[in-house]
Amino acid sequence: MDFDRLTERAGTHQLKWSEAERHIGLKGPDALPMWVADMDFDVAPVIAEAAERIATSGIMGYFSGDGEMTEAVANWMRTRHGWFPDPAHIRHTYGLGNAIGLCLKAFCQPGDEVIIFTPVYMEFAVKIKKGQCGVKESPLRVGAEGRFELDLETLEASMTGREKVMLISSPHNPAGRVWTVAEQKALAAFCSRHDLILLCDEIHHDLVFAGERHVPMPIAAPEATERLVMLTAASKTFNIAGNRLGSVTIEDDTLRARFDSLINALDIKPNLFGVVTTQAAYSAEGAAWVDALTPYLAENARVFAEGIRQIPGLTSMPMQSTYLAWVDFSPLGMPYEEVRRRIVEDARIGPSPGPSFGTGGECAMRFNLGTQRARVEHALARLQEAFADVQ
Ligand SMILES: Cc1ncc(COP(=O)(O)O)c(C=O)c1O
Repeated sequence: MDFDRLTERAGTHQLKWSEAERHIGLKGPDALPMWVADMDFDVAPVIAEAAERIATSGIMGYFSGDGEMTEAVANWMRTRHGWFPDPAHIRHTYGLGNAIGLCLKAFCQPGDEVIIFTPVYMEFAVKIKKGQCGVKESPLRVGAEGRFELDLETLEASMTGREKVMLISSPHNPAGRVWTVAEQKALAAFCSRHDLILLCDEIHHDLVFAGERHVPMPIAAPEATERLVMLTAASKTFNIAGNRLGSVTIEDDTLRARFDSLINALDIKPNLFGVVTTQAAYSAEGAAWVDALTPYLAENARVFAEGIRQIPGLTSMPMQSTYLAWVDFSPLGMPYEEVRRRIVEDARIGPSPGPSFGTGGECAMRFNLGTQRARVEHALARLQEAFADVQ
């Protein structure tokens, strides 16, 4: 596993590389995209081999179910996360964005409100709005350790009764905050008090750094089972988002029946390559690959934080997981547009614009560190140059 090996992504129809100009105005032959949450690493050999077997078999017809893959998903949750979902409670969708959209459709009426903790993965708000629901933001605070913290007191005081669902990213995107058991219990209790369905998106749960402990919501707060919908996928962990497969696990029979009636009506059935690559990923070889990946990502986060600290006033929020670093540029006192111009036009670096993450992201940027160390160092050198005049 050589994560330092530079691989050419430009011209390979990778959204992050091919559409950076259209989406974020990043141009030039030396442009360095650091936005979409895809990594610049080749997939684990076990995944490539499984896909190759299918590609060369000549057999791509309807296949007879996804039982083995569902068992592999359940087994991964058992062995990696200590969570024992019943395979009979697991459904599959076209990735987790699709799963979120389907859940909103299944569990909300137009006009209902969905609580999200901002700044957060921009597609949460996009999906909520597309589902004709209202976005109810609960802005995160930055605590004494410089990490995001929930503010459930302020949220409690603002509740109107229109809220029907809470959608949480656990660990959090951006900055990889790993929510503690106490915080998860507080979220569960909040949902119980206000009769909310809890959509817990754990797509990033495999990318937790050594020394940190992520506890899946069903283990942290078993009392939430009757209202809990779990969203998981191999896509972020193994860099296979293009194969579009995510899993939705619902233990409660009534909630699951509501979800089932929608996915049956829409004929949501997983794609062959999604099934095959997910099953291959959730294997002993896949586990060894992730075990090598997370220390590499943690070191990228350390190198990045050190480089950002060289720009007076700036810090990269301390990360506990993921490759999605968060830098608030507001201490520089510059308008957002000036920050954006310096980063995207002068430094030719393409992070995800903070304002799209909601309240708290007004003058921030999210940098994707799921790339070779040399690219992280290169990005830092250019950023330091772009802000060299800052005292
Ligand atoms: C928290 C979170 N949920 C869902 C997704 C989207 O997942 P998918 O690519 O499977 O649609 C992402 C992608 O970055 C994410 O960060």
